[in-house]
Amino acid sequence: MAATILDGLKIASEIRAEVASEVKAMAASGIRPGLAVILVGHNPASEIYVRGKVKSSEEVGIYSEQITPPDSISTEELLALVTDLNRRDEIDGILVQLPLPSQVDSKKILMAVDPRKDVDGFHPVNVGFLSTQRPGLVPCTPAGIIEILKRSAVPIVGQEAVVVGRSDIVGKPTAMLLINGNATVTVCHSKTHDLPGVCRRGDILVAAIGRAGMITRDFVKPGATVIDVGMNKVTDRAEFDRLFAGNAKREEGFRSKGSTLVGDVHPEVAAVAGRLTPVPGGVGPLTIAMLMANTVRAAKLRRGAGIPAFAGERA
Ligand code: GUN
Repeated sequence: MAATILDGLKIASEIRAEVASEVKAMAASGIRPGLAVILVGHNPASEIYVRGKVKSSEEVGIYSEQITPPDSISTEELLALVTDLNRRDEIDGILVQLPLPSQVDSKKILMAVDPRKDVDGFHPVNVGFLSTQRPGLVPCTPAGIIEILKRSAVPIVGQEAVVVGRSDIVGKPTAMLLINGNATVTVCHSKTHDLPGVCRRGDILVAAIGRAGMITRDFVKPGATVIDVGMNKVTDRAEFDRLFAGNAKREEGFRSKGSTLVGDVHPEVAAVAGRLTPVPGGVGPLTIAMLMANTVRAAKLRRGAGIPAFAGERA
């Protein structure tokens, strides 16, 4: 039987609607959450992401502003921008779009963001809160993965979860959320021995490696829930054929654009998995929805309001 496709667009739009109604309720007490996005230079992928973040803010009623310093900015100049946003009361969330140019010390910049405004959840204080199960701000993509699992009624407690990839942005925080949700968690990476065998233990398999279609059917336990975090642009014909030979719709897009967007999971996995997130339309839309949720959460957190427990955290 083919896997059930988990619709990230639908789940993201439910979350945005919930956020919009919270924003409306806050407006009644004179509070409007505000998000500032710093986009350095002209990275085309970053420009697309940031446009989506600003547009989504408008839709849910969050005040947003975009700051676009040039590529040549120094660490000190960028630090000054962050410090100014830390000080401004109408700004609840600060997001510094990555990657930053090579002359900028990214770690220093992320450390400078006030942890209470750190809607990306990248500051070590928030990383520490997550690992010690204290209320804080959780990275958007991992939080979105947990929302997909919960809202699709995928069991987490006691399940074997395997996370492939150990990045600070996705792999590690996702593993931590799954641990906090009482799964039995294994984290794999490029040096893992017998990767397919380890992955096949997963009732939940999260692929966050950044390699197009690397997770083939022999990595997947029959019936498993497979979460594909990959966003890879395939331009090579042979690679395209390995993934999509015979897929007329993909073929048409590939011919007209010269590329296609592929996750880390090979399409053949749909024949083995029980549930599967598609690319596009799976985890991606959740990242922005959770940024909206984090901005509202930051606005409440900073005003000392009671913070509801987040998915994946214990109350
Ligand atoms: N670049 C790619 N993904 C992200 C993200 O989640 N947050 C930030 N700040 N930059 C990114």
